[in-house]
Amino acid sequence: MRRWIALFVFLLTSLPLKGEETRHFTLSLAEEISASGLVDYILPRFALKTGRRASIVTADADARLVVADGTAPVMARGDVVFALVLERENDAAKRFADWLASEIGQNTVAAFEPADGLRFGPPPEVAVAVAPVIEGDAGLGREVAEAHCARCHRIAPEMRGMTLGSTPSFAALKTLPDWTERFTAFYALNPHPSFLLVEGVSPPFDPSRPPPIVPVEVTLEEVEALLAYVAKVPAADLGADIESR
Ligand code: HEC
Repeated sequence: MRRWIALFVFLLTSLPLKGEETRHFTLSLAEEISASGLVDYILPRFALKTGRRASIVTADADARLVVADGTAPVMARGDVVFALVLERENDAAKRFADWLASEIGQNTVAAFEPADGLRFGPPPEVAVAVAPVIEGDAGLGREVAEAHCARCHRIAPEMRGMTLGSTPSFAALKTLPDWTERFTAFYALNPHPSFLLVEGVSPPFDPSRPPPIVPVEVTLEEVEALLAYVAKVPAADLGADIESR
């Protein structure tokens, strides 16, 4: 019986893939966007979530991210509003449009920290409060934290005495109002880029500056799992907050 149910579920979940749905599309970018590095941040995350990929082209794209002329805005940076224009029927491009408009897409755009200039955010019309969506696997996150973070951070309150003095504990970081942003982007925040890479996201280490410790490589899925784990770590009570500085 079980086996039949499993088979049924399998057929059900595999059916939508049968129609040879396009998994790839081409995308062209407004100059403001290509200069910012935004798509290098969001496209791997979109691909992780949906299995759909985009290549950046300069002409004849399936979809174009352009400065909006008032229609269907998807994001904004300061006063500049951008729209996604679908040029032809392409399921993957359509998926991208849906993802960008979704809460997860909007959060991903908002989480990107440009090397310089303002951050991107929701377009003015849909400026809803975007609360972070945490959907990683907390159990996996705990394992990743033990393997890769615990040598410097105290990752759980019960692991007393296991942390380096100047390094904030995860419980202390949890007291900060923007802890989700910090844990979403920790790999780009010092000191981590010198020894830690996120597969498909981080640039390779500068060969002239080899990592000071055995380098660590994590996947985006593990970054999300870490966030889910940290969400479960109780924040330090404020009396103990001194250890965060
Ligand atoms: C080699 C030691 C080391 C390892 C390993 C390490 N960190 Fe850190 N981390 C630090 C130090 C030191 C700081 C404090 C940096 C500062 O205050 O400028 C820090 C800060 C942080 C912050 C706060 C960043 C900020 O600027 O607000 C987060 C979040 C963080 N680490 C997450 C992690 C996670 C997740 C891992 C495991 C995947 C990890 N760290 C592994 C040393 C480490």
